[in-house]
Amino acid sequence: MGVLPEYSKEVKEATDHLYELVKDVIPRMEWEVKAPYIYRINQLKKEKNILILAHNYMTPDIFHCISDIKGDSLGLAREAAKTDADTILVCGVYFMAETTKVLSPDKRVLISDPTAGCSLADSITGADVKKLRQEHPGVPIVTYVNTTAETKAEVDICCTSGNALKIIESIDSDEILFVPDRFLCRNMQTQTDKKLIEWSKGSCEVHELFTVESINEFRAAHDGLVVIAHPECPREIVEASDFSGSTADMINFVEDRRPKKVLMVTECSMSDNLTGMYPDVEFVRPCNLCPHMKKITLENVLETMETMSPEVFVAPEVIDGAKRSVERMLEVK
Ligand code: 13P
Ligand code: SF4
Repeated sequence: MGVLPEYSKEVKEATDHLYELVKDVIPRMEWEVKAPYIYRINQLKKEKNILILAHNYMTPDIFHCISDIKGDSLGLAREAAKTDADTILVCGVYFMAETTKVLSPDKRVLISDPTAGCSLADSITGADVKKLRQEHPGVPIVTYVNTTAETKAEVDICCTSGNALKIIESIDSDEILFVPDRFLCRNMQTQTDKKLIEWSKGSCEVHELFTVESINEFRAAHDGLVVIAHPECPREIVEASDFSGSTADMINFVEDRRPKKVLMVTECSMSDNLTGMYPDVEFVRPCNLCPHMKKITLENVLETMETMSPEVFVAPEVIDGAKRSVERMLEVK
């Protein structure tokens, strides 16, 4: 790795404004270690014309201090489709980087740790989808965006947690195979008259850990607590919550409603990232960590920008099929 600057007066002056957004979650001493990375990453972004996309589950140093575009999977997919940067560095998990490459095949797409996976993406393959088609002839297949490009290439259309219902309703069929997240499928089933057929092997290893008992305990301990849950949570968790939506929907909920106390039933960095943005809101924990998202760090982001690797490659024949599924999703208004 190149030489990292000291936490000098110059680095301090260039980064102090960024500390304001993270000061409640990053102690000053830790910041002085992080600030030189942030300074150098922001320099390299300009020098090399690199756009940094960051998912809402990135840690606050990445989310607030180095990203150009932040968002949920839907937002990041949309941005990836329209950027004119030469290189896109995805701070998120591998399927997100693959989706970016599928939408921008001529650009260089980087991810700092290609082993940053996802239990949902790992639960189904393109071959599984082909088999499902044989077992359910003529039934359209919707796949959650948390899948590999190879899986996306075999389905009819993609969806994210931000547009799942819209996509389901846009399909001209009373029966739909909805893969791979069985909990998202069950949560959507309560909102549509169409029959959704689930994939029994798919769930998010982070969201399936929450329990109704712990939500009830937190409600008992915090008067007026508002509970908002990601729809990857099991049905009973969503039922025990006041609102459910994608990570971007959850942020919009906090922005619009400004609850005094909120429990975000999702990945831990969401509350950390919002703490600096909404000082009037108290974020009550628990949360669960996504071990895959947490593989992306300031250190490996800097290394990636210096070496311009690891790069994401998707086979051309896979790109064509996956692009069709993702673009169909983006066309649904
Ligand atoms: P969002 O699309 O809501 O950001 O969700 C992606 C994800 O992986 C949540 O676990
Ligand atoms: Fe996958 Fe769950 Fe991690 Fe999201 S939080 S990337 S769905 S394992």
